[in-house]
Amino acid sequence: LSPFGNSPIVAIKDVQMRAPAELYQKLTRYGQQHLLGFWDLLTEQQRVELCAEIAQVDFEAIAGCLRNQTEQNPWSVLSRAAEPPPTANGQLVSDASLDEARAAGRGALAKGQIGVVLVAGGQGTRLGFDHPKGMLPVGPVSGRTLFEILIDLVRARADLHGCRIPVVVMTSLATHDATVRYFADHDRLGLNAEDLEIVCQGNMPAVDRESGKILLAEPHRLALSPDGHGGLLQALEHHGTLARLGSRGIRHLFYAQIDNPLAQICDPLTIGFHTLRNSEMTTQVVRKTDPLQRVGNVVLLDNRVQVIEYSDLPEQVARQRAPDGSLRLWAGNIAVHVISVAFLERVAQRGPPLPFHLAVKRVPYVDANGRSQEPREPNAIKFERFIFDLLPSAQNAMVVEIDPAEGFAPVKNGLDVSTENPHTAQAAMTLQHARRWRAFGGQIHAGAVLELHPLVALDTRRLQDWIRRLPVCAASTYLQP
Ligand code: UD1
Repeated sequence: LSPFGNSPIVAIKDVQMRAPAELYQKLTRYGQQHLLGFWDLLTEQQRVELCAEIAQVDFEAIAGCLRNQTEQNPWSVLSRAAEPPPTANGQLVSDASLDEARAAGRGALAKGQIGVVLVAGGQGTRLGFDHPKGMLPVGPVSGRTLFEILIDLVRARADLHGCRIPVVVMTSLATHDATVRYFADHDRLGLNAEDLEIVCQGNMPAVDRESGKILLAEPHRLALSPDGHGGLLQALEHHGTLARLGSRGIRHLFYAQIDNPLAQICDPLTIGFHTLRNSEMTTQVVRKTDPLQRVGNVVLLDNRVQVIEYSDLPEQVARQRAPDGSLRLWAGNIAVHVISVAFLERVAQRGPPLPFHLAVKRVPYVDANGRSQEPREPNAIKFERFIFDLLPSAQNAMVVEIDPAEGFAPVKNGLDVSTENPHTAQAAMTLQHARRWRAFGGQIHAGAVLELHPLVALDTRRLQDWIRRLPVCAASTYLQP
C-alpha cells in the first residue's frame, strides 16, 4: 500500500493553491504531487530546501525505470549466451609483449597522462563502521587507513615514474563532509592541493515499491541515497573535473574502489595493454574460486565485454563447467579499471546514458500523517548506476587477468562475517609483503608481521637496501622510505 494512501495531511487542492503552480503541475504529471503534502506546515527555509531537492530529481528517468521494471532483468535469458572473455595477457601472449606493455604503461605514467579515481561514496552498511570506509585502519602493523594505503600507493607510483598523478575521490551525501574533513586534518595525505579533488556524486530518491511514489525522509526532505558508482560520470562532468583533467594532459583514469587495499593502483602492465591496444576501457579480473562468489561476472556477450552482477547470474549458469572442469564463466570483476578520458567525455555528452539498476531495500520514511516509519521489510525501490555498464560502449574493451593474492582483498564485512573483513585484508597484505621480502632474499621469523610502505615494496632498490640493513625481520615491523 502507498504510505500516502488517499488521505494526505493537506488536501491536494489546497496545495495546488498555495504551492508554486508550476511545481505542482510538474509533479502531477508524474503522479508525485504528494511531495508537497506538508507544504503549509513548512517554514520558508524548509520550502526552499524541498524545492531544491525536487529540482534535482530526474522524474522522467524514474518513471521510465518503473515502466520497464519487468524488463529490467533479462539476464536469466541473456546470460545463457554469455561466453568467457578473452584476456590481454592470456596464454598466447609472449614475455616480449608483456614487457612491451609494461614499458608502454611506464611511458604513459612518466608523461603524466594518468590520473586516479577512488570511489568512496558507498554507505558501507555491511561493515558497520560509523565513518566513511576509507577511514578504516587496516595496515597490519602501521594501522594506516584505507585512504592512507591507497594514496601512499599513488604517491609511490608518482615518485617511481617521476610524474604527477592527480587523484579524484568520489564521495556521496553519506561520506562527503567527513571525507573532506579527514583529508584537511591529515594534510591531504601528502598530495599537493592541485592533485586532489573530492567530488560528491548525485542522489536518487527511493520510491514506495507498491505505488512508485517518492518517499519523504522528513516532511521537507526526500528519501535520497547515492546514485551508484556509475554516478561518477555525471559527477565528473557536473563538477568540471573531466575538463580540468583533460586540460592538464590526463588521458586515462585508473579507477579503484576504496575497499581494496591490495588494488594495483597505476599498474603499468594494465595501463600498457590499455594504451597499446587503443582500448577505451580496460578491466582487471580474477579467476573465481567458487561459482557463487560475490563478484560480478565479466563476460563476452554480443561480442562486447559486459559485467553480469552476481545477483543477476542464474545459479545454473554460474555453475556451468568447461570440458577441463574449470568454471566456464570464470572472470570475476574486482572493479579495477582504466578508462580513457576522451571516452568518458563522449559518453557524458552524447550517451548512451548508463542504465539504472533497481534494488528493493528497507527505507525509513514519514507517512501521510507526518509520522516516522521504520519498516521491517523491504518497502522501497532504490536506483543505482554501475560504472562497469560503460564496458559495452567502449571500443576495444580489454580484460586483464591478475592473481587475486596480488591485487584483491576487499573489506566488505565486519568481523561478524568470516570473509572479506578487515582481518582477511590484513592477512592478504601480510602475505603479499612477506612474498616480496623473501623474493629478494629477506627472512622473517615465524610470528613476526612485516608491513612495507608501497615505496619500499615497489622500488626494488629501496627494498634491497632495507634487506641489507635488516636481513632477518624478527619482530613486527613497518618499513617506510
Ligand atoms: C562491487 C561490484 C562487484 C565486484 C565487487 C568487487 C557493484 C554493483 N558490484 O560489489 O561486481 O565484484 O565490488 O569488490 O559495484 N560506491 C560509491 N557510490 C555508490 C555506491 C558504491 O562510491 O553510490 C562505491 C563504494 O564506496 C565501494 C564500491 O563503490 O567502494 C563498491 O560498492 P559495493 O556496494 O561495496 O559493491 P559490491 O556489492 O561489494
